[in-house]
Amino acid sequence: MFSNIKLIPAPMASLTDLPLRELYIEFGAKVVVSEMISSEALHYGKPSDLLIRSLSQHDHYDGSYIFGAQIFGSDKKKMVDAACFISQFPVDFIDINAGCPVKKVISQHSGAYLMKDYERLFDICEAVKASTSLPVTVKIRIGFTKIADNITEICKKLESIGISALFVHARTRDEWFSGECHWDILKKITSAVSIPLFANGSIDSKDYSNIVIDETSANGVMIGRYAAQAPWIFSSWAGKSFKIDRKFVAEIMIKHLAAAESLYGEYAATKLRKQLMLYSYKFSNSKQFKISICNSSSVKETLNAIKRWQNAA
Ligand SMILES: Cc1cc2nc3c(=O)[nH]c(=O)nc-3n(C[C@H](O)[C@H](O)[C@H](O)COP(=O)(O)O)c2cc1C
Repeated sequence: MFSNIKLIPAPMASLTDLPLRELYIEFGAKVVVSEMISSEALHYGKPSDLLIRSLSQHDHYDGSYIFGAQIFGSDKKKMVDAACFISQFPVDFIDINAGCPVKKVISQHSGAYLMKDYERLFDICEAVKASTSLPVTVKIRIGFTKIADNITEICKKLESIGISALFVHARTRDEWFSGECHWDILKKITSAVSIPLFANGSIDSKDYSNIVIDETSANGVMIGRYAAQAPWIFSSWAGKSFKIDRKFVAEIMIKHLAAAESLYGEYAATKLRKQLMLYSYKFSNSKQFKISICNSSSVKETLNAIKRWQNAA
């Protein structure tokens, strides 16, 4: 399923919603993954209309890209229920989150906690795998407080359970999102398993991505923050050249805002704040823009702020 894939945008809660995923696809991404979906929330609550729309709209029978939905949780039964619910939609694979470091998730024994309680991770993966005909992947870190001594064994076990691919953030949970990535550990994993592995962690250029692939023998890379900041990398790394100036980025902001408005209505102005900040990150003189979008609660005000930002020197 992942053959010839070199670059996958990472799932990111509050960012990789339907509008951003559609933008990634438009720029040529061949795989997109949903934000993490709580198995607890699905178990106790009624699935929101937004979630249903978000899962339904990747109705892509032309096979031009594949769509994965990511679930998280610690209870095998609830994870199975979540997988069964998701399997009703045009989803190509289910990804299990074993990498989220945030306290709220860890305290529920989900996300990166599963790197500590890996027997539970195996149980969840086995049960989810048995409950759906969709391929199942896992996004992991390489340990919890420290690099797991048995990380290669953990990955080999996941492979033996029938996991289709691994997305590996080359840091422990306690390293959160910064510091050097441990690419040497990924090299050990790729030497031990045959399933596709995508290397993840602070990759922000095509050159660095090639270095990581060389060093780790990974099939490709998964990119989070940088992809959200510059969704055009899916085309530009494939050879299409763009002049990345304010005009170009403002056009993307406006398009993104319109897509968000059609999904969220006026709430798009609030929802898109973080994303618009990411877009403007590399440009000087963006302070006023950031203030304006943080104070805006209407799509019109945000649109005007974008137009002012475009024309600012
Ligand atoms: C704001 C934010 C939200 C994230 N949400 C998720 C998520 O929902 N699921 C997940 O597996 N990882 C999530 N991550 C982790 C990213 O997928 C990725 O592993 C991490 O950011 C490292 O990659 P990067 O350095 O390329 O950003 C999130 C990261 C950030 C910064």
